[in-house]
Amino acid sequence: MESNGVSDKKGDLLQQLNLPQAESWLNNHHGKDIDKNRDTQIHLNNAAHACRGGVKRVHLLSRETDGALLLELYTRDGVGTLVTAENYEGLRIATIDDIGGIMELISPLEEQGVLVKRSREQLELDINNFTVIERDGMIIACAAMFSFSEAAAAELACLAVHRDYQIHGRGDDLMQHIEWQARKKHIKKLFTLTTQAMHWFIERGFVECKTDDLPIEKKSLYNYQRNSKVLCKELN
Ligand SMILES: CC(C)(COP(=O)(O)OP(=O)(O)OC[C@H]1O[C@@H](n2cnc3c(N)ncnc32)[C@H](O)[C@@H]1OP(=O)(O)O)[C@@H](O)C(=O)NCCC(=O)NCCS
Repeated sequence: MESNGVSDKKGDLLQQLNLPQAESWLNNHHGKDIDKNRDTQIHLNNAAHACRGGVKRVHLLSRETDGALLLELYTRDGVGTLVTAENYEGLRIATIDDIGGIMELISPLEEQGVLVKRSREQLELDINNFTVIERDGMIIACAAMFSFSEAAAAELACLAVHRDYQIHGRGDDLMQHIEWQARKKHIKKLFTLTTQAMHWFIERGFVECKTDDLPIEKKSLYNYQRNSKVLCKELN
């Protein structure tokens, strides 16, 4: 690439980024300082794409530095940015084989009324909208995205992390990933309905909005008995 690697806001080189951090960088720099960031955006985007496809490590190096690859691989701190999928245990798009695991994860939350009940049939229909985190063959977290293309909006739904695996950033990783998917589809606004986790979303850039702000198809399905809070996030 043209620069030494990927830099943070202060201009300091980031030596290593895992996939959620790379996606977060791209989300935060989307459309900003296009001339300055274009080269980094293109290369980091490609690196993230490769990692999502199963490549474990991608090194982004300056084309100007003589011997950059040797310096990157054989000096302790390297000279570029390593984009790694290695810390990114098992986050992937769900398949039909994950239905049982997702049901095991979300059933207790459905029983408690934290999540809306979904039948197996409904899950089967919606499975392509789900992203999961798998660990040792068990689904430990999931989230789904449903887009409403007319309104250029999407719903982040069914976000759940198994209680034994919470508070380690997996909720964040899933949200970053859903945001990433939304941006790729040119979605301008992400919204979610929640009864219990309002502050979790607010801390991640969502603001409370009204049921009237929901896309029409979603508004007509809004369950007034659940009295969920509607939260929205503009994706610039
Ligand atoms: C909300 C949820 C997805 C967060 O997952 P997670 O992997 O624990 O989240 P992260 O590790 O990224 O974030 C943890 C932080 O969020 C806070 N947090 C967790 N649940 C919260 C909630 N309901 N409200 C406010 N903050 C919450 C934690 O205290 C922690 O704070 P800290 O970083 O200051 O220590 C998870 O608690 C969950 O599955 N809850 C039940 C289902 C639910 O409510 N889903 C949302 C409705 S769609």
